[in-house]
Amino acid sequence: MANASNADKGIGDVKVEFRGFKKRFGSKLVHKDVSFKVRKGECLGLLGGSGAGKSVILRSMIGLEKPDEGQVLIDGVDIVPMKEQELIDVRKKVAYVFQNGALFDSMSVYENLAYPLRAHTKLTEDEIRRRIKEQLEEFGLEGNENVMPANLSGGMQKRVGLARSIILQPSVVLYDEPTAGLDPYNTIRIQEMILRLKTKGVTSVFVTHDMPSVFAVCDRIALLLEGRIQSIGTRAELETSTDSHLNRFVRGEEI
Ligand SMILES: Nc1ncnc2c1ncn2[C@@H]1O[C@H](COP(=O)(O)OP(=O)(O)O)[C@@H](O)[C@H]1O
Ligand SMILES: [Mg+2]
Repeated sequence: MANASNADKGIGDVKVEFRGFKKRFGSKLVHKDVSFKVRKGECLGLLGGSGAGKSVILRSMIGLEKPDEGQVLIDGVDIVPMKEQELIDVRKKVAYVFQNGALFDSMSVYENLAYPLRAHTKLTEDEIRRRIKEQLEEFGLEGNENVMPANLSGGMQKRVGLARSIILQPSVVLYDEPTAGLDPYNTIRIQEMILRLKTKGVTSVFVTHDMPSVFAVCDRIALLLEGRIQSIGTRAELETSTDSHLNRFVRGEEI
């Protein structure tokens, strides 16, 4: 396991980069100096205890949070100084998958998926219908177009939520504990969705405590500890690592 300062050497095309990210909430300096890179097409697993600051890191990638200091680069461009209008464009290419799926209760599955397409694209209703059909088929959700969210199982709601998050075909997808509370069947379906997006070159950051899913989908794993990326590396590096924090964390021990 390389330490955070030299682990990124030669990782290829960088898609997302945090540089010296510092953020304070009240008197608590949550992010002391967070720096890491995610390369194009890679899935980076981001681990850390509750309250370590993982969700804030994801939200900062779409400008929902701003650091007190530091940069957040997407495709080499710092989004920290961007105003809301520019951030709308960032959010078309960087999708954030909310933990609860965040479907609109009063709309059918079809209307939920159509909503972002109508709001953010110039696609015709015919094109929208085609895109939704393809998307539902691709993720094994076909036949649910007219179902209301309340009539879907929790696992199905999450999968539809994920399908909606990616309907604008983003190049980066941020997952905030997408498998939390899911049964093994739906967990594996979510893993498959992530892997399918990866084959299309989508870059992902995956925040979770679900280690089997991390090992199923992530290329590298980073540990956020005490306001810094304490370690980062591949699973193979992790397994041969003498990094006691990461090993202890993965084994479920206190760090
Ligand atoms: N909007 C906020 N107001 C005050 N404190 C916050 C806010 N968002 C996050 N925090 C603080 O930052 C810390 C990290 O939050 P978060 O990123 O949600 O952690 P994680 O996702 O790793 O569990 C938390 O301990 C919390 O106290
Ligand atoms: Mg969180």
